[in-house]
Amino acid sequence: MSEKIIILDFGSQYTQLIARRVRELNVYCEIHPYNNLPAFDDDVKGVIFSGSPYSVRQEDAPQIDYADIQNRFPLLAVCYGAQYLAQQQGGEVLPSEIREYGRANLQFVDQESVLLKGVPVQSQVWMSHGDTIKEIPSNFKIIASTDKVSVAAYEVEGTRTYGIQFHPEVTHSTDGQVLLKNFVVDICGCSQDWTPDTFVETTVAELKAQLGDDHVIMALSGGVDSTVAAVLLHQAIGKNLHCIFVDHGLLRKNEYEQVLDSYKNMGLNIRGINAKELFFGRLTGVSEPEQKRKIIGASFIDVFDQASKDIQHELPEGVEAKWLGQGTIYPDVIESISVKGPSATIKSHHNVGGLPDFMKLKVVEPLKALFKDEVRRVGKTLEVDANILGRHPFPGPGLAIRVLGDITEEKVRILQEADDIYIRNLKEAGWYDKVWQAGTIFLPVQSVGVMGDERTYEHVVALRAVGSLDGMTADWIHLPYDLLAKISNEIINHVKGINRVVYDISSKPPATIEWE
Ligand code: XMP
Repeated sequence: MSEKIIILDFGSQYTQLIARRVRELNVYCEIHPYNNLPAFDDDVKGVIFSGSPYSVRQEDAPQIDYADIQNRFPLLAVCYGAQYLAQQQGGEVLPSEIREYGRANLQFVDQESVLLKGVPVQSQVWMSHGDTIKEIPSNFKIIASTDKVSVAAYEVEGTRTYGIQFHPEVTHSTDGQVLLKNFVVDICGCSQDWTPDTFVETTVAELKAQLGDDHVIMALSGGVDSTVAAVLLHQAIGKNLHCIFVDHGLLRKNEYEQVLDSYKNMGLNIRGINAKELFFGRLTGVSEPEQKRKIIGASFIDVFDQASKDIQHELPEGVEAKWLGQGTIYPDVIESISVKGPSATIKSHHNVGGLPDFMKLKVVEPLKALFKDEVRRVGKTLEVDANILGRHPFPGPGLAIRVLGDITEEKVRILQEADDIYIRNLKEAGWYDKVWQAGTIFLPVQSVGVMGDERTYEHVVALRAVGSLDGMTADWIHLPYDLLAKISNEIINHVKGINRVVYDISSKPPATIEWE
């Protein structure tokens, strides 16, 4: 990367959002915890301090020695950051008389301030703080106020330091992106040349330099992240990338064959491994969800280990695969380093696994700096099959956690048929791309029905379709009744074993997206 902005995280729930907004300006940025500072090399163009769930008045509030940062770089301090600088330099921060949450409007905007260029008086901003800056140090100058908060923004005279009490990164701050652009472009001098094309170019060059003639082994899941990571690696080292795609028998109908074909068409050096028997054998009689996940995780590692040994054996004498490719993306990295506070919410069971220690491979993760939507954009630049790029998230344990209770091949087959009808109809009706994730769940109950003159006693499936940004929260989608009616009819008429279809109208929280 030729230039970057460093965001120091003090634990705000919005820190990731600041990073996303800066990236939307085609400027590369990285989040680091305030208490584990990165090297500030020449490519750093500016620094942003995030907000925090702490009050600067708390004894255990995050502290940072920032004199050097302030001297060397433009600095934008948001919320807690702004209060912290004001307090440290002799100002006074007190609890707000009225707690300031939500929308406010800027009554005063200093039109001369570079930071606020193009931000109009009355501009709506988003406040979220329990403290307020009552007194500013003598070298601070107020550059914006609301009717309740006189120090809504300040600049520190004789420096390139700015503080803002509101959150420019949330969309409710209508001119927030203008302000961020003023900071990163006009004040920091970033050239906005960080695009998917330049990312591909620099990453492929870096991978070539890092890997040379080495061989890399990588498991693909059919999902966006592992696929895009593999294509980048493939561009860098070609056939020296050895991909493995495991069929655990718990994918959607025909998915294994289709995805394997797509991978072959992309020119990847891939081997498909049919491990259905092993997975079903180990899952027989198991109905507890976490137990299923553990068995699947462990079996996957066994299959992968065997496949990687096979690959090692096939390599010429003296050549050894030293690397494991992974599709890790930036939110996973941030999560593991994030400061304790609301932004540190831990995803419990997701993407567990990683590198089993008996495989002593070094890890290469070409996407570890990217957010999910950036991975999709890079995938598009790399001309990855639209089918894979637009695909809904799908859990690693697959249909095992969508057949509630114990799993049999027959239940999985029935679920695959019903799910295939559901997903096909969503696609045909133009709903698939509007939905974040959809799936069918096989319920462990039977209910009475009637078909012709016959009484039936068969299974129920539930349909789920949710909208979400990141899977952490989600709401059910209001699919049209006539579409639901069509899907229900088709499933009941075509899938033997199902006589009832229900639609899940629960949001997350308190429900989850999956049923297990
Ligand atoms: P929940 O059900 O927790 O799901 O609301 C949130 C997102 O995570 C996916 N999910 C999983 N992904 N292994 C995975 O790789 C799992 O065990 C797992 N459980 C849930 C789920 O599909 C949704 O996208």
